[in-house]
Amino acid sequence: METKIFTPDQIDQAAAEINKGNLVSFPTETVYGLGADATNVAAVEKVYKAKGRPSDNPLIVHVADVETVEKYAMPLDEQTKKLIKAFWPGPLTIILKLQPNVLSKKVTGGLETAAFRNPDKQPTIDLIKAAGVPLVGPSANTSGKPSPTLAEHVYHDLHGKIAGILDAGATEFGVESTVIDMSTDTPAILRPGAVTREQIEAVIGTVDDSEKHVGKKDIPKAPGMKYTHYSPSADVQIVDEKQEWPQVIDWIKSQKTLVGILATDDVINSNNWPKNTELFSLGSDINSASHLLFAGLRKFDLNPEIKTILAQGFTADGLGEAYMNRLNKSAGQKHFEQV
Ligand code: TXA
Ligand code: MG
Repeated sequence: METKIFTPDQIDQAAAEINKGNLVSFPTETVYGLGADATNVAAVEKVYKAKGRPSDNPLIVHVADVETVEKYAMPLDEQTKKLIKAFWPGPLTIILKLQPNVLSKKVTGGLETAAFRNPDKQPTIDLIKAAGVPLVGPSANTSGKPSPTLAEHVYHDLHGKIAGILDAGATEFGVESTVIDMSTDTPAILRPGAVTREQIEAVIGTVDDSEKHVGKKDIPKAPGMKYTHYSPSADVQIVDEKQEWPQVIDWIKSQKTLVGILATDDVINSNNWPKNTELFSLGSDINSASHLLFAGLRKFDLNPEIKTILAQGFTADGLGEAYMNRLNKSAGQKHFEQV
């Protein structure tokens, strides 16, 4: 299959593919999604196949308006309405109890809830409206690889397997949406993301941690969080904030193979790097670092000579909570240690 690239002025062509039951990748403010008609079971099955995604991992339903959510979900409570008012359109995915038999088990992974998201990206809102159906949309990467922040990343992973990619350039946040469970008595963040815990708590008060929440009976964790994720072929290690970079450099010197460094400009510019170093700048701060982390991991993954990737750690608050969550998964919790 030839994968077509659609520009934002070719929304109708992209929507026609969706209506035929085909897959079209769409841009969002977080990462690119892999879109299919959420009401077409055969189309949803193609999403799992193209990504190589385990079938018990449910999909986010992307909507253009709150009315569509009300069509599928049980009546929204006051807290949920507050979240929608504060953060939609935007990178907050809300898990809600469903009305019976309104969405296929293929979408929900057999759960009685579904994840809803109203992305803040005009071409994709236009696509959902033109198709006239909500779109399922997992991140448009091969399962296990870093999420795509450019149309080129999607093309790399999925060309030949999907009908098209709606290309609207780079995404803004670079880490995925925050997933909050509003289907239980106490709200809980199941996946930290682009909307921070602090921002959410300012609107609805204290929310549970995923671990504490999942400990309670009958409450599933975001099933996707149990799988390996964001993993390039090279060995990824986190360089903690307290780590001295000159020690890192001594270690690189002792290596015979290429080492990839993901770090901010101040780190890159204030050190002398050995010849066997490949540098990728994460920009100036946590905002740019979140935006660039997946792109950096992907860039290094294209070079089979790079056997180790050392990535700069940040404090895990604000956007740093999402950044460190993704980096920890990518590194399998491994931290650089001078030996
Ligand atoms: O930013 C994003 O959220 C991107 C863009 C494309 O919208 N999408 C995305 O989708 O990251 P995905 O499928 O890669 O991640 C969705 C996460 C998974 O961890 C999944 O297990 C969880 O949400 N999830 C979906 N439905 C759920 C449900 N009913 N209950 C609990 N977790 C759910
Ligand atoms: Mg994903």
